[in-house]
Amino acid sequence: MVVMRIQFDETNLRAAMVGVAHGVTEKEIGKMAPRAADALAGFRRASEEGRYGFAHMPYRPALVKAILGYAASVRGSYETVCVAGIGGSALGAWALDCGLRGPHPVQGSFSAANPRLVILDNVDPTLVQAALDSMNPRKTLVLAIAKSGATAETVAGFLILRDWLTKKLGARAASRIAVVTSHGRGELSVLAEREGYRTFPVPENVGGRFSVLSAVGLLPAALTGVNIRKLLRGAAAMNRLCWSRDLAANPALRSAVMHYLVWRHKNKPIQVAFPYSNRLWGAAFWFRQLWAESLGKARTRREEKVNIGQTPVAALGTTDQHSQVQLYMEGPNDKVFTFWAVRKPPAIGRIPKQRVGLEAFDYLAGRSLAELLDAERAATAAALTSNGRPNCTFTLDRIDEEHLGAFLQMLMFQTAFMGELLDINAFDQEGVELGKRFTFGLMGRPGYETYRQRFQSYEEKRAAAGR
Ligand code: PA5
Repeated sequence: MVVMRIQFDETNLRAAMVGVAHGVTEKEIGKMAPRAADALAGFRRASEEGRYGFAHMPYRPALVKAILGYAASVRGSYETVCVAGIGGSALGAWALDCGLRGPHPVQGSFSAANPRLVILDNVDPTLVQAALDSMNPRKTLVLAIAKSGATAETVAGFLILRDWLTKKLGARAASRIAVVTSHGRGELSVLAEREGYRTFPVPENVGGRFSVLSAVGLLPAALTGVNIRKLLRGAAAMNRLCWSRDLAANPALRSAVMHYLVWRHKNKPIQVAFPYSNRLWGAAFWFRQLWAESLGKARTRREEKVNIGQTPVAALGTTDQHSQVQLYMEGPNDKVFTFWAVRKPPAIGRIPKQRVGLEAFDYLAGRSLAELLDAERAATAAALTSNGRPNCTFTLDRIDEEHLGAFLQMLMFQTAFMGELLDINAFDQEGVELGKRFTFGLMGRPGYETYRQRFQSYEEKRAAAGR
């Protein structure tokens, strides 16, 4: 049974379309074959040894049962699910919600049967206050999601939510809180145990940005009515393709190789992820984190200093044709464009047949928004190609659980393969840690006094430089 169909069209990455300075030749692709095979074997070994866990996420029936059991036990008692989480602990939930329940912010009316998902992924007080004002504590489930259990933003947001619930519900507040965190590690897990919150684990070998198909993404999805079994079925079907040694049959490896060639050999340090679908807009932001944090690295695995990375940009079609495409067409030829298209969108958007007797209007009469959207995407790809700007397209047959689960899984495989091709560790994030430690130091967390002192020296240096 075909669970999903996702096509990768690389034609406009080829030298025959955009010239040899910007496009890839058959010979260059052929030369990459042994490295592609090594990348596949290297990542497969690491995955089988259990070093990296995202590829195992589609096969965890006990977790799915636990999540669905919990969802059934609280069903009907809430109109809002409010997530306190950030980065990989928030973006997957947003990508799934936006993709499967409708684009933000126009999802329609919410009720206990169709709960709203509110994601507090910032400590901007105006966001948090507006969220609190918009929710009813008696009808809200709070999810605290943090693998480390200690991220300052998540802890701060959660403390506010916990207090807000407790003021209305007293001791019953604990039954309205669930936590997703590392099992038995980190202080969120300590608090959860002390206060009796329901908890779900983040596997040790699954990093934040690779965690969308763990409880991190599945719990909020299940609580808002997404069919998580289908989501995982799509991801499992994609797994089968992504372990294929046949470069033509493996979309993640093929795409990693093509993107590697364009980036490294044709000097394209920027990748624009360009969905022509508001439903995929959340996924574009999720991908932006995945690509940036996984591939932006100081050193190779052999400790060679490289300071490598490809800057991901999220652009939305057709909206950003009217804000970005001038730059993309005529500015520096330093970008590769990856369009995301949907063959059968969930809605067609019929334009009325009545004519108004004006040329600029009447050619659209009786056509559809879906047709216009797709024509604009094809036209933008053609225009970029004719200006020698390499681009490619992923086309999802539909946007449903199977396709989105498969697509996100494919993008994670592609990122892992790219890490192998670059010989970097795509799964750590040392670069984020220093800023976090400075924050802890500045906010007075015990154990981080040296970072406070380092920050003070930095301020002194600034004062001297500004004199
Ligand atoms: O991908 C990552 O590892 C990060 O972006 C984390 O998801 C982010 O820093 C949040 O971490 P935590 O889940 O520990 O709060």
